[in-house]
Amino acid sequence: MLELKNIEKSFGNVNVLRHINFSVDDGEIISILGSSGSGKTTLLNIILGITQPDCGEIRFNTHDITKVPMEERGFNIVFQDYALFPNLNAYENIVYGLRNKPDISTPDEVQDLIDLLGLREHLNKNIEQLSGGQKQRVALARTLVMKPRILLLDEPLSALDGVIKESIKEKIRQIAKEFHLTTIIVTHDPEEALSLSDKVMILGSGTILQYAKPDEIIHAPKDGFVTEFILRQLEIKRSNILALFDGGEVRTAV
Ligand SMILES: Nc1ncnc2c1ncn2[C@@H]1O[C@H](COP(=O)(O)OP(=O)(O)OP(=O)(O)O)[C@@H](O)[C@H]1O
Ligand SMILES: [Mg+2]
Repeated sequence: MLELKNIEKSFGNVNVLRHINFSVDDGEIISILGSSGSGKTTLLNIILGITQPDCGEIRFNTHDITKVPMEERGFNIVFQDYALFPNLNAYENIVYGLRNKPDISTPDEVQDLIDLLGLREHLNKNIEQLSGGQKQRVALARTLVMKPRILLLDEPLSALDGVIKESIKEKIRQIAKEFHLTTIIVTHDPEEALSLSDKVMILGSGTILQYAKPDEIIHAPKDGFVTEFILRQLEIKRSNILALFDGGEVRTAV
């Protein structure tokens, strides 16, 4: 179990995170949902170990890891921009982390992951020859071969749309459940958060407004901000969809 207790973080005199208290059970998928600047990435970086909190405590399986450096925490992140190595092909990217730690995944496990993510036909391609969704899957495979104890994803689906988005969402869920992998996803899209996760955390100006199962967030939003935020975001999507249909005719999306 991952636990954060009374985490606080300021940059200069800007208080970015306040009174952050929550826990994530093993194998659980949670989403951190909030508008731009609400502190989502900062919170992810604190869990990963890139950023030190000003005070508070992080525990993993009851051990205090607040001061444990990133490499020793054994968590891993897929960055929003994938951060793939452009000079290596897809396969070389996937196995990159195993160069120094070859025992983490067996060759069979690597091959299984490649099939699971549907990457077999793309292995020899250079990164610039891959589509956004293929890059995202390579980034996911590269992270998963290292068998992280916690998987962190910063806006994993924001650059994708339609069918690809749905299929990667499904893969993330499948992998998390199959490997019993604790997964923390940052997003600003309520639909994504509510459909993908076991629990959703709503961050507003650096505090946790609500942390609950999707069903509870929808049926019992804790305060006006949560209701407004979710409805507004969903409404924007709905009006975008409606805008595509005009009097029964499908118009070209802009
Ligand atoms: N290294 C830093 N130095 C100074 N201020 C920072 C730093 N990192 C983040 N901030 C500030 O902290 C606040 C929260 O930033 P953060 O990146 O966590 O937001 P976010 O919720 O991830 O936003 P977005 O959805 O736009 O990615 C912002 O006001 C940002 O300007
Ligand atoms: Mg961010």
